[in-house]
Amino acid sequence: MRSTLSVEEIKELQRRVLDLKRKKGAYIIAHNYQLPEIQDVADYVGDSLGMAMEAKRTDYPIVVVCGVHFMAETAAILLPDRKVITPERYAGCSLAESITPEQLREWKAQHPGAVVVSYVNTTAEVKALSDYTVTSSNAIDIVRAIPEDKEILFLPDMFLGMYVKEVTGRKNMHIWPGECHVHARVTPQDISRAAVENPGAVMLVHPECGCSTNCLYLKAKGDLDVDIKVLSTGGMVRYVKQHPEEEYVVATEVGILYRLKKEIGSDGDRLKPLREDMICEYMKTITIDKLVRSLEEEVYEVKVPPEIAEKARVPIERMLSLSR
Ligand code: 13P
Ligand code: SF4
Repeated sequence: MRSTLSVEEIKELQRRVLDLKRKKGAYIIAHNYQLPEIQDVADYVGDSLGMAMEAKRTDYPIVVVCGVHFMAETAAILLPDRKVITPERYAGCSLAESITPEQLREWKAQHPGAVVVSYVNTTAEVKALSDYTVTSSNAIDIVRAIPEDKEILFLPDMFLGMYVKEVTGRKNMHIWPGECHVHARVTPQDISRAAVENPGAVMLVHPECGCSTNCLYLKAKGDLDVDIKVLSTGGMVRYVKQHPEEEYVVATEVGILYRLKKEIGSDGDRLKPLREDMICEYMKTITIDKLVRSLEEEVYEVKVPPEIAEKARVPIERMLSLSR
């Protein structure tokens, strides 16, 4: 997605961000899918887990979250005494919207005693009804840490859920049929095509992708001759840093390519997106001019009602304590 601003205008706005953040004592945390000009002025760029951990680590009075709303909410839940702001208050997430608190209450009533494991891409209210939150970097470890005899309700991403179920071999795990509109459209055929077009390339696949479980299955059967790594966005960054000489096809939101190229100092020849249309329009609502305004006016403050925040903090803290 291209900005309508000129390079010079972007640079000027970036200078203002750096100046304002110093004057105000603000700390900027951004997701790996953010626009390059946002990533370049952020103090931290990472995946959902890294963003939550970083929010807890900082002691700045103002924390600016450049990501979708649930990411800002998670920071606000973890930092009740700090000012958490986001440059765009309507940066939603199709996955977080795929389950409501009412639906979760009903599901829980059908499975009394089950442990509720919610992907971090959920609203604060849904988190408040959960036992654990997970991200794509720690979902497998957290599911493994839950006693075998406990039924699990995993929500809301069915592809991540199926992938975790396949890897852990967990039988008593029910999966909510939610999905992310950006990742759900990826098929095993996309991977097979990319493998033919890019022989020898490593496929970096986000577990939210519609192909993740299918790919593992086809690979186990020997029907897919390609090196696939199913990783969170943070896991992709770490992998590429450790293997900078490889060629990659990347199956997640295209914003991560900027981060990956920067990490290995590549002009981009060895890193390609699986599909150019994997663009999260919610992530892209955060622009550099909105970030300037956000710092100038200290908007939009993200506030979670204390009674919800108190309950939602429990599964998030459990996740963080299992992720250190
Ligand atoms: P990560 O936690 O892997 O960055 O994923 C977040 C997300 O929204 C993926 O679409
Ligand atoms: Fe949500 Fe999908 Fe965008 Fe990630 S890519 S923030 S899951 S809509």
